[in-house]
Amino acid sequence: MQKQTLKDWLKGQGATKGVSDILLAIAGSCIKIAKIVKNAPLDGLIGASSQTNVQGEVQKDLDIITNDLMVGDLLRISSVSAMVSEEIDEVIQNPNKSKNANLTVCFDPLDGSSNIDNNGIIGTIFSVLELASNSKNITSNDVLSASKNQKAAGYFIYGPACLLMVSVGNKVSMFSLSEKQQRFLLVDGDISIAKNSNEFAINMSYQRFWDSAIAKYIEQCLLGEMGERKKNFNMRWAGSMVADVHRIFMHGGVFIYPSMDKKGSENGKLRFLYEANPMAMLVENAGGMAISNPAPIREISATNIHQRVPVVLRTSGEVEILLKLYQNIK
Ligand code: AHG
Ligand code: MN
Ligand code: MN
Repeated sequence: MQKQTLKDWLKGQGATKGVSDILLAIAGSCIKIAKIVKNAPLDGLIGASSQTNVQGEVQKDLDIITNDLMVGDLLRISSVSAMVSEEIDEVIQNPNKSKNANLTVCFDPLDGSSNIDNNGIIGTIFSVLELASNSKNITSNDVLSASKNQKAAGYFIYGPACLLMVSVGNKVSMFSLSEKQQRFLLVDGDISIAKNSNEFAINMSYQRFWDSAIAKYIEQCLLGEMGERKKNFNMRWAGSMVADVHRIFMHGGVFIYPSMDKKGSENGKLRFLYEANPMAMLVENAGGMAISNPAPIREISATNIHQRVPVVLRTSGEVEILLKLYQNIK
């Protein structure tokens, strides 16, 4: 039986034409990105460019190539009023937008770039915000004040399979790219995060910089059945948010990129608009919780389009434990 296409799924989810046009355009861009990534070693594109982005990070060739490809494709969509990309300092205006266009796309064109040269899992993260304004020139404040009005969120993973995880407001669904048909076909229409798990994902090399609640939580995981949790844990860290968070959807567990007592990492590393906020929508729509020291991520009012925020994404069952630990350190 023919599996459902992304286009038909969008219709079934009641997505507006504006949102559907954007998601289908991004899916088209990511089919091209999947090919570029596959051929990158032969094309000499697994290295660093000579440029740095607004984050002060050295951009990889593929960061720039994928960014330019997505911007070019989205500029042709009349429902796109503007864009925010990890790789571009300012809000990108869309001169081809229609008069009443009020949807802004925030995206991380290539997430996990440190994994390009070692052929690790990388991906693309996107978020579609409905702005209150459809003025000619979209400002950073127009975008930031719309962050709680997320109409769609998702990520692509360029791994053994090219996957898409997406939500347009209620369920989270998973698609896989059909090489033959060159389009995304539905694999699972209603993903829900397992309640219990024994996996945690955090970069342990920063342990000395954590706050005491995170330190205590991880200490309990490491003590295993000898400690208060009375069960053993497994640690995973891919260094690519899409890979580490996808594991939460598949196995349950927790993903933590905390605030740290380390210069430049006081708010962690992950950016609110195009990493934390979209992942928070997906995790919550799949029955998990998304908190940030420990306020809900989706209630954050960011003040800068590249603002970093601490991130904890997890099965709901685990959140209570961490929230209690935050209560104790108040
Ligand atoms: P990006 O490649 O878009 O800059 O994102 C990298 C992020 C995220 O994907 C991952 O979870 C995190 O960086 C890993 O950080 P560390 O290298 O500090 O572990
Ligand atoms: Mn990223
Ligand atoms: Mn990136």
